[in-house]
Amino acid sequence: MDVFEAIETRLEIKEFDDRRIDETVKRNVLEAGRLAPSGRNLQHWQFVLVDDPEDVGRLGELSPTGGWVADADFAVVVCTDPQYDFNELDAGRAVTHMQLAAWEDGVGSRIYTVDRSAVKEFLEIPDDVDLTLVAGFGYPTHDVEGVKDRRPLEEVASRGRYGRPLE
Ligand SMILES: Cc1cc2nc3c(=O)[nH]c(=O)nc-3n(C[C@H](O)[C@H](O)[C@H](O)COP(=O)(O)O)c2cc1C
Repeated sequence: MDVFEAIETRLEIKEFDDRRIDETVKRNVLEAGRLAPSGRNLQHWQFVLVDDPEDVGRLGELSPTGGWVADADFAVVVCTDPQYDFNELDAGRAVTHMQLAAWEDGVGSRIYTVDRSAVKEFLEIPDDVDLTLVAGFGYPTHDVEGVKDRRPLEEVASRGRYGRPLE
């Protein structure tokens, strides 16, 4: 699968089947995050791999908008240093790398944000570290059709000046 095909076909999924994911795939996902660019190349992130099924279930219980993660095979919790005002941008780039790498191996994913001290406590994340996002990974239960609900290019892109036509 080439990069553009991965971008075009990947959808965020939250229905995962019971197949376990190989350690090599998990490592690949983490490696893809590690290789992502970051502001000033600070790499101020920590990726917490949560792959004990009980822990993944608990993560779901603690996540108001990410309860579906309980059905994932594993989750990666992306933590960043909030002293940098671009920390969320860096987290987004890292997780996008991870999600595309996973997709190449047929593994689906979705992300959510959570602002719960209970999750930080559970994962032993220090107070001064930001729990920026959580990504759940697993094999999809159904064929994922690459049909995206997106605004047309002419609506979201302009040429030369803001708001001018792309053509
Ligand atoms: C910053 C951000 C926060 C998100 N938060 C949640 C969330 O809390 N819960 C959830 O189920 N999905 C969450 N998502 C997933 C989005 O709903 C999903 O990426 C979007 O609907 C596009 O999905 P698609 O690629 O399948 O079309 C989040 C995505 C982003 C980028």
